[in-house]
Amino acid sequence: MRNFDEITITNAVIERLSGASDARIADISASLIRHLHAFVREVRPTIEEWEKGIAFLTDTGRMCSDTRQEFVLLSDTLGVSMLVDAINHGAGEGVTESTVLGPFYVESPPEKAPGEDISAGIEGEPLIVTGSVHAPDGTPIKGATVDVWHSDGDGYYDVQHLEETGGLAMRARFSTDGEGKFRFWTIKPAAYPIPHDGPVGAMLEKQGRHPWRPAHVHFMISADGYQKLVTHVFAEGDQYLDSDVVFGVKDSLVREFVAKPPGPAPDGLLRNSPFFHLHYDFGLHAS
Ligand code: BEZ
Ligand code: FE
Repeated sequence: MRNFDEITITNAVIERLSGASDARIADISASLIRHLHAFVREVRPTIEEWEKGIAFLTDTGRMCSDTRQEFVLLSDTLGVSMLVDAINHGAGEGVTESTVLGPFYVESPPEKAPGEDISAGIEGEPLIVTGSVHAPDGTPIKGATVDVWHSDGDGYYDVQHLEETGGLAMRARFSTDGEGKFRFWTIKPAAYPIPHDGPVGAMLEKQGRHPWRPAHVHFMISADGYQKLVTHVFAEGDQYLDSDVVFGVKDSLVREFVAKPPGPAPDGLLRNSPFFHLHYDFGLHAS
């Protein structure tokens, strides 16, 4: 077969997949070819534009390292990560909605006891986080693993400036108690721009978009017999809730970080300065 034109080339490429031994790979490849060709036919790029596109993807790959995943940022900012999330994590009665993982999770964070302060001396406004983990019918889940991580009051994660923080901070692993509850002290996180000094940042600028995410605390919760939940709780009133650069906000995940005067805290501690309180009850899907 030869002499393909703008239209016939699509089926010609798809026909070459007839030798693929994995049916799923063949289906995905055929769909990719169909959509990619349709995109090119719609956009009708000049040769220079196509070369720029290749250079953009090349730069995106070159930006990736052990600590920077530019392709994930590309997927996040094009809304693909949340689309994959929506396909794989349907909402359900009594179950907390999920959202993007983001690039700042650290495997096996430091294990902490209930009520410990995880801010590791980073200055900020004190925040107590309380919550619980339950089954869809409300039954408390004892011994669930609750990983938490968040930015500081300037919008930076510990891993973005480890030389200054001197180690991991504002991240920890807790285990729920007999009533499915957990609690910890930390500092109030702030809104922050995603890393935007690379090709994805340049893309956002060309698209006339800002790189900001609303303030949030990340949670990854797992328990035997339940599906792992990856989510955040967002700060009510944040100016970026309706324009999160990665499209991760859901109404059900927004809560007030309640300002409290000096006095007794929810864990019984007597505070002599103001603090904030965030509470969330998480529901897990049975697996
Ligand atoms: C985050 O929330 O940590 C995050 C999510 C997606 C892209 C960048 C950061
Ligand atoms: Fe985050």
